[in-house]
Formats: sequence, structure tokens, C-alpha cells
Amino acid sequence: MNLLNRVALITGGGRGIGRAIALKFADLGADIIINDIAGSEGAPQVVAEVEAKGRKATYIPADISKADDVTALISKSIEAFEKIDILVNNAGITRDKLIVRMSDDDWDLVLNINLKGAFLCTREVLKHMMRQRSGRIVSLASVVGLMGNGGQANYSASKAGIIALTKSTAKEAAPRGITANAIAPGFIDTEMTSHLKEEVKQLYEKQIPLGHYGKPEDIANAAAFLASDEAGYITGQVLSVNGGMLMP
Ligand SMILES: NC(=O)c1ccc[n+]([C@@H]2O[C@H](COP(=O)([O-])OP(=O)(O)OC[C@H]3O[C@@H](n4cnc5c(N)ncnc54)[C@H](O)[C@@H]3O)[C@@H](O)[C@H]2O)c1
Repeated sequence: MNLLNRVALITGGGRGIGRAIALKFADLGADIIINDIAGSEGAPQVVAEVEAKGRKATYIPADISKADDVTALISKSIEAFEKIDILVNNAGITRDKLIVRMSDDDWDLVLNINLKGAFLCTREVLKHMMRQRSGRIVSLASVVGLMGNGGQANYSASKAGIIALTKSTAKEAAPRGITANAIAPGFIDTEMTSHLKEEVKQLYEKQIPLGHYGKPEDIANAAAFLASDEAGYITGQVLSVNGGMLMP
């Protein structure tokens, strides 16, 4: 399996799962565009790590929930690398609250970044991929997008939306040789989950047959497969990487 000379754009690539995907793709021969919010501390480091592997990389700041930012992100990417072969819709946030305490802002922020952001990036990238008649789109959903989660109505709804966006994209883009798939991670050890209280973490761990949280690299391996030629006949699918936590 290789991604030799492919160009991959990874949103929210400055840390966590996005960083692991960038490093895995670079190991497989891809050049990498790291998107993250302006002032990301991690993004320049990830660029340096990719370059140390002998691949080209650049950091293009953009808030993916803003249409103008996304248009600029895609045109700067094409300017720098001439093409985009792989889009990884990875950027995401949480604002956890019970529904009765959830503000409109908590809802809007999470939906705007997690779901609208993925839509905006998909829309802009598809224009190029359709002309090039090839492409791979891999989007980060979540186990809670399949099963729901108390305290995460906004986040779970955004991730269920990612799954429907992925299936719709797969149907529209298939005639042009473009595939779209989602990964539904379970609980993965990153900054995002580091704020969970120890007792909550232990409670979740008890629900995982493999008995422990996943690593960002577990998700990166799945993303590399879905982005590869070997996955060319797979589209509109949701790949669960969750230690057996949910078997849909
Ligand atoms: N960690 C988990 O357990 C887990 C489980 C299921 C799904 N996921 C999903 O995987 C993806 C990556 O998660 P992670 O754990 O690495 O999270 P993380 O918080 O460590 O990293 C997310 C990155 O996205 C960036 N980002 C946030 N808002 C942005 C915006 N508006 N524009 C551009 N970049 C933005 C952040 O700056 C950060 O670098 C997310 O979509 C998340 O929902 C994570």
C-alpha cells in the first residue's frame, strides 16, 4: 500500500488524530497540506515532522466553518501543490452539556465546525477532484454519531450528519471516480478526551471489549487504507475503529 506523490489536505492537522494521519500518509509517500486554526502551535511542528520524512508539507491556517476561509484554503493549496488527491475532514470540537443546559451558541459552534466545515471543504475540493476525475475524501465521524451520547447532543448530531454527508457525497461523486468514506472512532487518546474525569474514562473503558482507548495511529492506519488504491471499490461506508465498543 502506498500514497506515493499524492497530495493530501488534512483539516485540523496540527495535533491528535490529524497529526497521526499526516505522519502516516507521509510515511506512505504523500505530500501534506496541514490546515488548522490561525496560530496553531502544533501545525508548524507537524510540517517539520513531515519534511523530516523527506516529503513536502505546508501549513495553511483557516477556520473551516467560514466559507471565505475555505475558498482561500483550497486555492492556496492548489497554488502550492497543483492538485489535491485526498481530503481528510478531521477538524472537530466538543462543547459537552446536557440538552436542557445547552446554549444556542454551544449547538451552533459544534455544528458549524464539525459538520458545516466538512461540507464547505468537500464542496470546494470536489470542484477540483471532479475536473481531475479522481479523489479520495475521508471524514472523521464518531461512535457517538452512530449510538448517541448523553451530554453530547450537539457533537453526536454533527457526527451523524458527517455520515449522511459522506453517503450523499459518495453517490454524487462516484461517476467521476471519487470515493467518500467515514471513519467512526471510539475513544481515542488525544487532547479532546484528556479532559474527561478519570472515573468517566474508566466507565468508558469498561464498555470497550479490547479494554483500552485507541491511539491516534489506529485511526491513521484506517485513513491510509481508505485513501489508498486498494480501497478503490469502497465508497459511502463507515469504518468503525472502536475496540469493539459498538458493533453496528
Ligand atoms: N479523540 C477521540 O476520542 C475522537 C473520537 C471520535 C472522533 N474523533 C474526531 O476525530 C477528529 C480529530 O479529533 P482529535 O481527538 O484529534 O481532536 P483534537 O482536539 O486533538 O484536534 C482537533 C484539531 O482541530 C483543530 N480545529 C478546531 N477547530 C477548527 C477550525 N474551525 N478550523 C480548523 N481547524 C480546527 C484544532 O485546533 C485541533 O488542532 C475530530 O473530528 C473528532 O471529532 C475523535
